[in-house]
Amino acid sequence: MLSRPVSRLLIANVARRSFTSQARNNSRQQYQWSRSRWNFSSGKSSRLAAVTALSGGIAFVLHASTSPSDNKLSTPSKVDYNQVRKSISALLDDNNYDDGSYGPLFVRLGWHASGTYSHIDSTGGSNGGCMRFQPESDWDANKGLHLARERLESVYRAHPGLTYADLYTLAAVVAIEEMGGPKIKWRPGRNDHKDGKQSPPDGRLPDAAQGAQHIRDIFYRMGFNDQEIVALLGAHSMGRCHTDRSGFDGPWTFAPTTFSNEFFRLLLEEKWQLRRWKGPKQYEDVRTKSIMMLPADMALIEDPEFRKYVLQYAKDADKFAKDFATAFEKLLELGVDFKTTDGSRQGKNTSLWSRIFG
Ligand code: HEM
Repeated sequence: MLSRPVSRLLIANVARRSFTSQARNNSRQQYQWSRSRWNFSSGKSSRLAAVTALSGGIAFVLHASTSPSDNKLSTPSKVDYNQVRKSISALLDDNNYDDGSYGPLFVRLGWHASGTYSHIDSTGGSNGGCMRFQPESDWDANKGLHLARERLESVYRAHPGLTYADLYTLAAVVAIEEMGGPKIKWRPGRNDHKDGKQSPPDGRLPDAAQGAQHIRDIFYRMGFNDQEIVALLGAHSMGRCHTDRSGFDGPWTFAPTTFSNEFFRLLLEEKWQLRRWKGPKQYEDVRTKSIMMLPADMALIEDPEFRKYVLQYAKDADKFAKDFATAFEKLLELGVDFKTTDGSRQGKNTSLWSRIFG
């Protein structure tokens, strides 16, 4: 029997050979899914330095301590999350969608639901499930994600007690695992808000046209460091860009429904040139012209500090998978308070108020 990393690479290689520039125009490539699973225990999320937390000032403390009005509190004990996982899995494959899977779109849904978090004022994050409401549903950055939310609606209805906020994040976790990625620690407890009034301001998700400084601004705001940023961006081994969503076009790898470290390997090993087309500035590989990189992706090899981690992850797929699992778990929990069995609240990224005063 082949080892998991070897079998994954074989899949990627077969896919690469069969992936022609024609495939860019015909978005119905079929890939065999690697269903192998890695099981890593996740390390502790890095704590925010007190000095960073204090930078928001007392006004922010008052703001952060006001509790949101939720219309649906998560009742995790009533929900069979193994069944929820199965229901999500059953929705992933679809030959008529993109490369044959909703997996990458589910990953993007979980990430965009969470990536609005700011540790400056503890607003944003996956709690609330607000992307189903305006204004968040209408943000340019969230174009196309209604397809994922609509696809998941049947799962929400089939599992009373499940919240949208938990569903959107669990869908990302299940999708990654089913695409051959690592097991990601996930726990329920997010509540649903009754409208979009508590959505943070637009503009918190990254702009793909920009470079290293912008990426740091966005991810430091969430509390991530350079290593975690690079690990997270490795998610671009999955999925593709769509001209009717972001305006960009094409997949990053030759096996876009497989979780792998191919994004890093290709970044380093392929030659990249500007694509000549009417769309926004993006790069294509010189050899096949069938895969792409965003300006923001290229920043990972242009910036020396980011590049260090790209080199590590391109060489060591297991390290990438392990670091990705840890960073992704942290991302999905940003700003979420989890209820403990004694009724108290406990979260890794709770408000400044609770971090200081317990
Ligand atoms: C600097 C940070 C990032 C930028 C600028 C960025 C940008 C983009 C863009 C422009 C798309 C194409 C959307 C479309 O047209 O459909 C995309 C797709 C995607 N992104 Fe990112 N992204 C970033 C970070 C992340 C992170 C942190 C994750 C997850 C951990 C992620 C996961 C994905 C996935 C899975 C897709 C494919 C979606 C699909 O196939 O429909 N991205 N990203």
